[in-house]
Amino acid sequence: PPPPPPPPPPPPPPFFFQAEDGIRDERGLVGSEMCIRDREQVDELNDKLKTPEEVLEWGLENIHPKLALASSFGAEDVCVIHMLSKINPEARVFSLDTGRINQETYNVMDEIRKKYNTKIEITFPDATEVIEMVQSHGMNLFYESAENRKLCCGVRKVHPLNKMLSTLDGWITGLRSDQTQNRQTSTKIEIDEQHDGMIKINPILDWSWEQTMGYIKENDIPYNKLIDQGFPSIGCEPCTRAIKPGEDLRAGRWWWENQSDKECGLHLSLIHI
Ligand code: ADX
Ligand code: SF4
Repeated sequence: PPPPPPPPPPPPPPFFFQAEDGIRDERGLVGSEMCIRDREQVDELNDKLKTPEEVLEWGLENIHPKLALASSFGAEDVCVIHMLSKINPEARVFSLDTGRINQETYNVMDEIRKKYNTKIEITFPDATEVIEMVQSHGMNLFYESAENRKLCCGVRKVHPLNKMLSTLDGWITGLRSDQTQNRQTSTKIEIDEQHDGMIKINPILDWSWEQTMGYIKENDIPYNKLIDQGFPSIGCEPCTRAIKPGEDLRAGRWWWENQSDKECGLHLSLIHI
């Protein structure tokens, strides 16, 4: 009799393994060790996936529902929300409400919520941390020193972000590489060393500011009206001003800190800024 057919090949391994605390995967790897194998796959994916939609489709297929967009509702983020809503209306979106954001930002949040039926997951800073900080340093501590500013960004943005990310396996951002020097070394899909080697997806990393605004206009996407008043980059109300013609797009962020690299720590460990 003919020999039996060979058994089918084993299925390919999943793209990455959930990094649960102290639990080893089937290769006996735990935590950041798991990233080593994944790094090669990330390079392959960055070569293969070209458009923002392809990158987002890959993320949603492989990581949803443990994947969410971090949105400050700036120009970049509303473009990504528009794309996500077309690929999977269940795609998750979260926003870090620092307690100091502009009314115009709340307005666009509501417009987006209504237009795309998006359930926006809002996070707030820990009340005890805020109380301790403002009782020791005052309400407007950020103007007094870079140290105070980083303390405030830590309490109001970075800690809530870390808490949210600890529940996810991947996050999406609206980063563009020409925003800061640090962002020029990012890739569309990357292993986020700052957050336990989770996956970070930056679908419009190579877009220019003009492309971003063009996409908003073409698709009639709701956007933050402060942009029309000279605010291309919008953070918290007391820490953002309009820019003058010819100024860098991020010149209005923490404008009194001439020497700072204009990062609040969401995308760079606070120790490095
Ligand atoms: S920041 O680090 O300087 O404040 P920036 O305003 O350039 O960041 O935004 C870059 C990306 O960080 C956004 O596209 C978004 O993905 C994320 N992000 C920034 N601020 C917030 C926020 N308040 N809530 C959620 N995501 C945010
Ligand atoms: Fe605080 Fe300003 Fe940072 Fe907002 S941007 S968290 S108000 S220091």
